Amino acid sequence: MGFVRRLSLNLKFVLKSLFFLQYVPQAFLYSIQRDRLERQYISQPKSQSLIKPGKLLQATATDRGVHFYFEEVELNIDFLTPDFVRVNWSPNLPPIPYAIAYNEWEKVDTKLAETGDNWTISSNTLNIEVGVAGSLTFSNAKGEIIRSELPPQWDNQQWTHQAKLPAEEHIYGLGERAAKFNLRTGKTYQIWNYDPGNIYRPGVDPMYICIPVYLGLHNLGSYLVFYENTFRGEFTFGEDAIAKFADGALRYYFALGEPQKLLERYTQLTGKAPLPAKWTLGYHQSRWGYRTERNVRQEINSFQNHNIPISAIHLDIDCQVGHRAFTIDPKRFPHLRSFIQELAALDIKCVAINNPGIKHSRHSNLFLEGQVLEAFCTYPNGELVVAPVWAGRTVFPDFTNPTVRAWWSHQFAYLLNVGIAGFWNDMSEPALFVTWGDPTMPKVAQHCLEGRGGDHREAHNVYGLLEAEAAFEGIRESRPNQRPFIVSRSGWAGLQRYAWTWTGDIVSTWEALRQTIATVLGLGLSGIAYSGPDIGGFLGNPTPELYVRWFQMASFFTFCRTHSSTSVEPRAPWSFGEPYLSIIRHFLELRYQLMPYFYTLAWETAQKGYPPVRPLFWYDWKDPLFWDREDGFYLGESLLIFPVLQDGVRSQTVSLPSGNWYHFWDDTFLESGNSYQLEAPLEKIPVLVREGSILPMEENDLLILHLYLPKSGESEGFIYSDAGDGYGDFRIDRFHLIRHEQHLQLTWKQEGNYPFPYANVQLTIHGASLQNASVDEQEIVTQGQSIQCQPFQQASLVFDPLL
Ligand code: NOJ
Repeated sequence: MGFVRRLSLNLKFVLKSLFFLQYVPQAFLYSIQRDRLERQYISQPKSQSLIKPGKLLQATATDRGVHFYFEEVELNIDFLTPDFVRVNWSPNLPPIPYAIAYNEWEKVDTKLAETGDNWTISSNTLNIEVGVAGSLTFSNAKGEIIRSELPPQWDNQQWTHQAKLPAEEHIYGLGERAAKFNLRTGKTYQIWNYDPGNIYRPGVDPMYICIPVYLGLHNLGSYLVFYENTFRGEFTFGEDAIAKFADGALRYYFALGEPQKLLERYTQLTGKAPLPAKWTLGYHQSRWGYRTERNVRQEINSFQNHNIPISAIHLDIDCQVGHRAFTIDPKRFPHLRSFIQELAALDIKCVAINNPGIKHSRHSNLFLEGQVLEAFCTYPNGELVVAPVWAGRTVFPDFTNPTVRAWWSHQFAYLLNVGIAGFWNDMSEPALFVTWGDPTMPKVAQHCLEGRGGDHREAHNVYGLLEAEAAFEGIRESRPNQRPFIVSRSGWAGLQRYAWTWTGDIVSTWEALRQTIATVLGLGLSGIAYSGPDIGGFLGNPTPELYVRWFQMASFFTFCRTHSSTSVEPRAPWSFGEPYLSIIRHFLELRYQLMPYFYTLAWETAQKGYPPVRPLFWYDWKDPLFWDREDGFYLGESLLIFPVLQDGVRSQTVSLPSGNWYHFWDDTFLESGNSYQLEAPLEKIPVLVREGSILPMEENDLLILHLYLPKSGESEGFIYSDAGDGYGDFRIDRFHLIRHEQHLQLTWKQEGNYPFPYANVQLTIHGASLQNASVDEQEIVTQGQSIQCQPFQQASLVFDPLL
C-alpha cells in the first residue's frame, strides 16, 4: 500500500474516531441518569421462597381441553389442533398477543381420563399426562414420551420452567444466535434483544433478535415450544432444558411432529412471511459511506460497466440530514426523485434506512408532532427518556401505543412518493449509546402496552417487532398495490409477518463466515424465513478469497447483500479485481437464473412457513448423523449447498443426506449416504441437485426445466409466477415426472389466470443421453441434451442412461 494511501486511511480513521467522541459526554450523562432512575423506581425483588403448584385437586373439562386446580396455582390446557396445544399456568399477567396472528382454531376432540392420582388429556395425536404435583408428560399416539416437564416454580414474579432432556436430544432456535447450531451446550442464552456493537463475533450472546422458541429433536421424535412471554428470559440446555422469565406469564405452546409440521404450526400461530416482491430476491448493494448521490450513481455505473446484476441499492444514515429518520439530504442528493426514476428504468430499487429515535430538537417536525401526541417514552416522573444515538440527543417513540404506530406509519408516504421502494429498520432493539451498562432504554421507561401500561422490561423485546409492524402497515396503506419490503435488525416472534432481517455487524473473519450458516438456519427454525449476512462481514476488510467465499455462500441465501462499515475499505463485487470479479458475476448470474426457483420457494414459505434455507436434518430428521451439521444447507428441496468455510481450501469432504445427488457443475452422480471429496476450486463451491428434481431456471424469456434423471420412480415440482409485485393474478405450473426404464414422461398442469410469462420452454435432461423427444405427440428436434418447445401437456424423452 502506498504511503499516501496509508496516510489517507489513517487520517480517515482519526477523523472518524473524533466523530464518535462527540457522543461520549452525552452517553456518560445518560448512563448516570439511567442508573439513578432505575435505582429510584425499581424495587429490588424481595427474596421469596419458590412456590410450586402444590397438589392437584380438581380437573374440569373445557371447550378445548381441561382446566386443573392445584393447591397454589391453576393450569389450563387448550388443544388448538390435535398436535398443538396452549398451556397456561396462572396466576400471571396475561401477555399482550403481539406474537399471535391467528385465533380461529377449530374445535378438537379430546378425552380426559383419570389415571390414579394423575390425569391424561388426549387427542388422536397427542397425550398429555398431568402429574399430581404439576409435571407434564407429552407423548405421541404410540405412547412414546416426547417431552417431560417438571412442575414449574414461581416466586411471585419469576417463573422457572424445566424439562428433562434425553441424552441425545438436540435443540435449535431461540431466534438469532452467534452460537453453535445445536444449542445444547450447557451455556445460558439470554432473551433480551441486544446490539453487541463492535464485539459481535461468534460466541457473543444475546443478539438483535431473541425469540423464546425452540425445537427439540431426539430419537423418539421432535417438538417445538414457544413461550409467549416478552420479558427478559434465560434458557440453558444442559442435562435439562431450563427456561426462566423475569416476570410475566408462564404461557407456552407445544407442537408435536416432524420439523416441517412444527414450522407450519408455529407460523400458523405467529404468522407466515408474506410473498415478497420479486426484486427483493435479487442482489442488494449497500455501504455505510455513500454520502452523496454522485457516489451512489458511480456505484451503479460500476455495476453496469462490470456487467453485474443488481436489484437494489441501500442508503445508510450518512445519506440523511444529521442522521435523522425519514430524511435524505437534499444538498447531497439534489435530484433524488429523478435519480430514483433513472434507477427504476434500470430495474434497480432504492432502500432507505430509518432509526427509531427522533432527534430531540425544536427544529425537528417529527419531534414536535410526537410531543403533541405524547408519542415518546418517558421515565415514571414524566420526563422524556433522552439518550444519544446517531442523530444526537434522541427520544424514542413508544411503538406499544397503537396511536404512535399509526403516526409512524404515516411518515412513510413522503419517501414512498419520492420513489423509495423499501425500508431498512436499524437500531430497533432499540440501541442507544452508553458508556456502561445495557445499551438500550432504561428498564423503567414507561410504555402504553396497548393501554394497559407497563415498562420497558415488558416492552423491550417487542420494540423492533412493533416498529416493523408500523412500517409494514404504513407502506400497505400508502401503496396498497406494492408488497412492503422491510429489513429489520431486531424483532420478536412474528417478525416474519412484516420484515426480513440481516445478521448484523459481524466481523470480517472466516470464523464469522462459518457462523453465518448456523445463525441463518437458527433464524429459519424460529420462523424468520428471510435473512442473510453482510457479505464479507461488516467490521474489517476481508481478503479477496474471504469475500468470494462469503459471496458464493450468500448467493444461495434469501437475502443477498454486501454491506460494510464506514470505517473499512469500500467493498463491491469488483473491489478485488480478477479473478474474483468474474467469479462473483458468475454466482450472481446463477442466482438470477434460479429466480423462478427462489420465487417459488418464497411462495411456499408464504403458504407453509418453511424457511427456504433449511438444515441438513430437514428431510432426515430421524438420522442423528445430521443433527449437528452446520457445514451446509438446503435451498428448497432440490439444492444442497456446501460453502467453503476455510481459507485456502480447494476441496470439501461432505457426507450426503438421503437421496441420490448430481453435482450441479458437471452432473457427476453421487450415491446417497456416502461421503465424497468434492472439488472446490476458488471459482466454485459444491452445489448438488437432488435426483428427480425439476429445477426451473430462466434466461431472458426462456424457461429452462432441468430434469435430473431419477434412478427410478416419479417426482413432482412446480413453479409459481405472477407480476412480481402487487396482489393480482398468479399461476402455478405443476409438473409430474415419471421414469419408465429409458423413457421420461413429464406432464404439465396449469392453474391460475396469470398468463405464462415465458416465450419458450426448454427441457434439459441430466444423467442421460437424450435420443429423441416428443411434445404432445409431436416429434421435436433435440439439441444435445435439450429440446425447445411451447407449453405442453405431456412430453416424452427417450434416453440412454449414462449411469
Ligand atoms: C448499525 C447497523 O447494523 C449497520 O448495518 C449500519 O451500517 C450502521 N448501524 C449505520 O447505520
